[in-house]
Amino acid sequence: MQYVPPSALRGHDLEPLLAKHGLTSAWLATHDFDSHSTANVARVTYGETVAKVPFHYRSARTTLPQLHAWIVGLVAEAKRRQAERGAPIASITHGPSLLLLGATGVGKTYEAYGAMRELSVTGVYCQWAVTTAADLYAALRPRHGIDSEAEFRTYRDARLLLVDDLGADRKPTEFTEEINFRLINHRYEHYLPTLITTNVGPKELASRLGDRVASRLAEMCERIAIKGNDRRRAA
Ligand SMILES: Nc1ncnc2c1ncn2[C@@H]1O[C@H](COP(=O)(O)OP(=O)(O)O)[C@@H](O)[C@H]1O
Ligand SMILES: [Mg+2]
Repeated sequence: MQYVPPSALRGHDLEPLLAKHGLTSAWLATHDFDSHSTANVARVTYGETVAKVPFHYRSARTTLPQLHAWIVGLVAEAKRRQAERGAPIASITHGPSLLLLGATGVGKTYEAYGAMRELSVTGVYCQWAVTTAADLYAALRPRHGIDSEAEFRTYRDARLLLVDDLGADRKPTEFTEEINFRLINHRYEHYLPTLITTNVGPKELASRLGDRVASRLAEMCERIAIKGNDRRRAA
């Protein structure tokens, strides 16, 4: 792991994220040249996270207690495994998944990126990937010269995966159903933490995603329903 000097984080408003985990910016700025220190792990993870969070959600912060509790659980499990194995740093490897349900514009993507930002400053390393379901299908369509299986594996095997807008496609095809199944089944079998957002109602999950996917999601995910109006139209 590279050493990131504290000056790299200048100008980022991280106090509120840190405070949720009893941490301070003084801790994050610990300048001890130790690449395995929890503060450096947080600086590295936060730096990688900034690169993945879209501009629109760059200041997102979760408002949902269940999302915060999920993060606390993942962090505790990573630290427990680190102690058990005597590993130099704690990393997210396994854990439960979450399903954020709600209509268009209620804040699902905002909450999801807020959660990734919050997780990134806790001092636990998190290698995470993000894709919308639509982008995933597009990336995996068989094309000349592209190894779509290798592409698929980067999402399938990510330590933590954010799948935004699962089931948003009006007409599922055999191809999209197969991708959904292979992705969710793998993450289910290996207990890989996955944060999924969907605007599909709880009762339509089986018809829109297929029984096999809906059944696995029911077991592997805690469900959080976000209520409210379309915030994009409220302004
Ligand atoms: N808690 C929040 N505080 C401030 N803005 C929010 C919050 N939640 C959502 N938004 C804003 O509302 C809009 C819709 O949120 P978004 O997460 O994109 O909705 P969707 O549920 O469709 O994914 C976005 O512009 C987002 O930045
Ligand atoms: Mg969204």
